[in-house]
Amino acid sequence: MARRIPSRYRSYRSLIERGTLKSGDRQRWREWGRTNVEAVATKPVNTQTGSRVKWNRKDLLGLEDLTVEEIELILDTAESFKEVSTRAIKKVPALRGKTIVNLFFEPSTRTRTSFELAAKRLSADVLNVSSSTSSVVKGETLHDTLANIEAMKTDMVVIRHLSSGAPHFLAARCRSSIVNAGDGMHEHPTQGLLDMFTIREKLGRIAGLKVSIIGDIAHSRVARSNIWGLVKMGAHVTVCGPATLLPPDIHKMNVTVASNLREALAGADVVYVLRIQLERQNGKLLPTIREYVRFFGVDKEKMRAAPPTAIIMHPGPINRNVELASDVADGPNSVILEQVTNGLAVRMAVLYLLAGSEVTDETSD
Ligand code: CP
Repeated sequence: MARRIPSRYRSYRSLIERGTLKSGDRQRWREWGRTNVEAVATKPVNTQTGSRVKWNRKDLLGLEDLTVEEIELILDTAESFKEVSTRAIKKVPALRGKTIVNLFFEPSTRTRTSFELAAKRLSADVLNVSSSTSSVVKGETLHDTLANIEAMKTDMVVIRHLSSGAPHFLAARCRSSIVNAGDGMHEHPTQGLLDMFTIREKLGRIAGLKVSIIGDIAHSRVARSNIWGLVKMGAHVTVCGPATLLPPDIHKMNVTVASNLREALAGADVVYVLRIQLERQNGKLLPTIREYVRFFGVDKEKMRAAPPTAIIMHPGPINRNVELASDVADGPNSVILEQVTNGLAVRMAVLYLLAGSEVTDETSD
């Protein structure tokens, strides 16, 4: 059995200096990448007071509520976890013994697979439940569904639901940690976090950048999480889209509303294109898709209005040649697949922080 590692020792170096680690432990410590994560999880956030931020929340429901320090903690922790996926054996034992339930009531490719892979790379057990194959189709309530799953002693629930507020409803009633994987038109916090991670990685900072979000803002939980997160982190956010696809209270979100695409693209460091969400639009909010493409579809020609260094982002899935032309989606400035890669590291960080795991004999084996 491995040596017990006292939780007061925060770094690999201090463990070596105190003679707590021997060569076998050193290898184990490296294997599970704990050093970086521990160092990040206790890093000083205020150099004047020396105060340290700790993750104290049971749930991750949205970015509106998080502090700058909490967002930075998640992004810094994700940086440590990104390396795990480059190893030959892409697994660390950080969440061994934990059970994570993916409860998806809406379709998903990226978010569901990314959460499943994140849990598996942290050595957790994973259950995948979709509404179409669960007893929800027989009339079982959301609360009963989760109460029955929790009765099997699960630890965390990742939920995507078509109703805004569903994760908050469960968080207030359940023992498990709840992670919002997208609730209606409200929030998609891990998307916002992975987007901020990607911007920081590609451009070196978030504060002071012009981030232009183009498209269907009104129906987009991705837009809401990004606006709350990016504004909090000091970015200048500009939104642009047809008036019918802008929320009426957009002026309360500390963003600039561009009157046309050219204005939004001028000087943009980040061009963030949103999917047209026809499934959430009740009635005719757009005269025709062709007209939308003409005025708001981002293509190579229109991108001449943006600086040549501007990066292109999209949360996926892309309606190719509607909101985003293929020559831009697949072009040299696109970081769309890097967003997906980073999503895995960010979700590993979120699950890790929510589990609040301690360094113990069990996790260091
Ligand atoms: N970005 C995003 O949420 O994609 P999925 O719907 O495929 O999960």
